[in-house]
Amino acid sequence: MSVGLDDTIAAETVLSHVDGRAGSLVLRGLPLDVAAATLDFEAVCALLWDGFTPVAENTRQTLATARRQAFARLGPLLPALDGLAPIEGLRLLLSGLADESDLDPAAQVTGAMPVFVAAVDRRRRGLVPVEPSADRGHAADFLAMLNDDQPDPALAAGLDTYLVTVADHGLNASTFAARVVASTRAGMVSSIVAALCALKGPLHGGAPGPVLDMLDAIASADRVGDWLDAALERGDRLMGFGHRVYKVRDPRADVLKSAVARLKGGRIDLAQKVEQAAIDRLSRHKPGRHLETNVEFYTALLLDRIGLHRSVFTPVFAIGRVAGWAAHVMEQTATGRLIRPQSRYIGPMPQQAA
Ligand code: ACO
Repeated sequence: MSVGLDDTIAAETVLSHVDGRAGSLVLRGLPLDVAAATLDFEAVCALLWDGFTPVAENTRQTLATARRQAFARLGPLLPALDGLAPIEGLRLLLSGLADESDLDPAAQVTGAMPVFVAAVDRRRRGLVPVEPSADRGHAADFLAMLNDDQPDPALAAGLDTYLVTVADHGLNASTFAARVVASTRAGMVSSIVAALCALKGPLHGGAPGPVLDMLDAIASADRVGDWLDAALERGDRLMGFGHRVYKVRDPRADVLKSAVARLKGGRIDLAQKVEQAAIDRLSRHKPGRHLETNVEFYTALLLDRIGLHRSVFTPVFAIGRVAGWAAHVMEQTATGRLIRPQSRYIGPMPQQAA
C-alpha cells in the first residue's frame, strides 16, 4: 500500500506524460516547449480533445459561442457572489451550469471559465461583467472581459503561453478527482466542479498567491537568506518548491520564466535570487528530498506582471487546466471503469462473545 498512491497507476491516457526524473512533459506527442512555442490555447484544446469530441475541429468558434452562453447565465447568480473568495465564487458559478446544455460539454465548461473568472473578479471590485467577443482569442478575451479594455497583445500572448503550459499534467490531484467523478457517469459539469475543488488547496493550485506574499515579505535582495532560513526554521513550506512527481526542476517553470522575461519589468531579479537561495537551503534542510522549483513559482511572477490580482491566480489556473480536465473526463467516459479502490481497515473489530 502506498499512502498518497505515488506508485499506483490508476488510468491509461493518451493526453500527457510527466517524466519526473528527466523533468519532461509531453502533451499528446508534443514536448511542452514545442507546444508553448507553436500552439495557442484553442489549438491545445483541439490537440487534447481530438478523437473525443467533434468540436475539436473548430475550437476557436465553439469556445467563443460557449463564452457567450456562459455570459447569458450570469445575471441572476451575481448577487450570490458577494462575500465569497474568487475561487469560491467560481465554484458557485460552475455549479450553476446545466448538465444538459445544447453545447458540447467540453466546450461548455472551457468557454465558461474565463467568463466566470472575469465576472467574479469584477464583482470583487464592485464592477459589472463585460460581454465576451468572438473576435478575440480565448486569452485576449479574458483580459478584455476583466479590464473592459482592448488588451495589450504582449500581455495576452503571455497569458496564452501560461494557459498552454498548464493545460494538462498527467494524473494530478484535480484531474484524478475529475476522473473519479466521471467514472460514476455523473457528467462533465460535476466532474469539473470536483476538479476545481481539488485545485483550490495550497498544496496543489493554491500556491502562486502565497509565492507572491513571500516575495512581498522578503522585499529586497539583502533579506533573502535570513527570511528563508527563518521560514524553514519555523517548519514552513516554501511555496513554489517541491513536487510529488518531479525530482528535478519542473519543465513548466522554464517556459514561464521565459514568458516573464519576454514581458520585461516585474520582479524577476529578486525572484531569481530567491529561487537559487531557496533551492540551496532546501537541499540542506531536507537532504535527499530533491525539492526544486515547481510551476507555481514563475506562475506568480507572470500573472502578477500581466496585472492579475493574486486572489484570482488559482481561478486563472483553472481557465487553462479545464482543457485537460475535460479531455480526461471524455477519455475516462470512453475507456475507463468505475474507480473504486479499497481501504485497509485498522480500527477495532467487534468483540467476540465470551
Ligand atoms: N518547503 C519545505 N519543505 C518541503 C517542501 C517545501 N516546499 N515540499 C516538501 N517539503 C518537505 C516536507 O516537509 C517533507 O519533509 P519531512 O519528510 O521532513 O517531513 C518532505 O519534504 C516531503 O514532503 P511531502 O509532503 O511528503 O512531499 P509531497 O510529494 O507530498 O509534496 C508538494 C509535494 C505538496 C507539492 C510539496 O512539495 C509542497 O507542499 N510544496 C509547496 C506547495 C506548492 O508549491 N504547491 C504547488 C505544487 S505544483 C501543483 O500542484 C500545480
